[in-house]
Amino acid sequence: MSNTNKPDRDLAAIVIRLTQIIIVLVVFIIALVIALAKFIPAPKPEPVVETPVPDAYGNFTEAGKQSTEQRLKDTINYWKAPDESALEGNSKKESILYGKDLIAHTSVYFGENGKIYNSTNGMNCQNCHLDAGTKVYGNNYSAVTSTYPKYRARSGAIENIYKRVNDCFERSLNGKALDTTSKEMQAIVEYINWLGKDVAKGKKPEGSGFKDLAFLDRAADPEGGKSVYVAKCQSCHQANGEGIMNGDKTAYTYPPLWGEKSYNDGAGLYRLSNFAKFVKYNMPLGASHDMVQLTDEEAWDVAAFVNSQPRPKKDISKDWPKIEEKPFDHPFGPFADGFTEKQHKFGPFKPIKEKQEAMKKNKKSKA
Ligand code: HEC
Ligand code: HEC
Repeated sequence: MSNTNKPDRDLAAIVIRLTQIIIVLVVFIIALVIALAKFIPAPKPEPVVETPVPDAYGNFTEAGKQSTEQRLKDTINYWKAPDESALEGNSKKESILYGKDLIAHTSVYFGENGKIYNSTNGMNCQNCHLDAGTKVYGNNYSAVTSTYPKYRARSGAIENIYKRVNDCFERSLNGKALDTTSKEMQAIVEYINWLGKDVAKGKKPEGSGFKDLAFLDRAADPEGGKSVYVAKCQSCHQANGEGIMNGDKTAYTYPPLWGEKSYNDGAGLYRLSNFAKFVKYNMPLGASHDMVQLTDEEAWDVAAFVNSQPRPKKDISKDWPKIEEKPFDHPFGPFADGFTEKQHKFGPFKPIKEKQEAMKKNKKSKA
């Protein structure tokens, strides 16, 4: 009996021994995993680039504002819009918020099926004055109240805010000017005044308007800009620059960049420097002054491409009554500086700017 049992017992001993070894190994592995989890820092997650989702009107206000705020970590004290919650008890609250809505959802009031009347190309002010005119270097309104009324060379006259707002209605929105006494114009101006209420008279806060962009040493190149457009803009603004409307056709989800429904050739964006600065620090959607996606060359070239496409014309024969005050990148002659229309449109701009400055100095010293 014992003889027949001995191999069995040996086997049992081996099994027990093996089991012990396995248990020890398992315990060791578990301990190792716990130790690793505890002492080795978890890898930082890759930053996720989120594609912003527009609201029913095709606007990106909240998402844009949040991501801008998160990124404003450098040391410059950038302008920030006043807090809306502080409007409680303000007798103008309703009008101010109506003004904001008119800026953000202009097409609902003045677009094709506008509640008030149809008098524009269907764009929103906010398409170019991002986050209802509050985004840092997103063409915001922070310096409007502090600097208007002011002399503007385009009209050759002192302009107030009403005139400036109507300029954008007639040019950027290729539409009709509003009656300055209308509830809508009053609301827009009250909103703009409220945004700029904490800025000292005559001052421009950090981050106002557009951020500067260095000139290229060469002329901007529409051909090169076309490749930039196809690679980085076309997916939203479409192959013919016509943009995309939202489902119920009340507003653009992606606004047009040229063609019948775009800004006309008297608009601010038709100047190459304005367009290049806007896109460098704001496009493709999601870009900002501290998170750019385009090189300087790409920004200038895509500006040259887009502003070479067809768009509505405006009678601007009364603009720039003093031709020596035309800016370096105003593309229509006659010019006092002797440079061609082509160079005024595409550059190189440095020589024009230098000549204009020399002429100004000369005039001053003669006076
Ligand atoms: C297609 C783009 C576009 C649209 C749409 C647009 N604007 Fe503008 N707006 C501009 C540009 C560009 C400038 C700056 C022009 C310049 O500096 O020469 C500007 C300037 C202004 C200014 C003066 C800002 C300053 O600091 O001096 C005001 C005010 C203004 N716009 C109001 C409006 C209002 C209100 C609407 C809607 C009714 C509107 N804009 C729609 C492009 C646009
Ligand atoms: C992911 C989509 C997207 C891409 C890509 C994109 N844009 Fe835009 N763009 C928008 C939206 C949306 C707006 C309007 C923003 C708003 O209303 O808040 C806009 C506004 C603009 C405007 C001002 C409004 C107008 O229609 O005139 C210009 C100019 C512009 N984009 C140029 C460009 C250029 C140039 C590129 C490529 C370098 C580009 N965009 C890439 C979505 C995009």
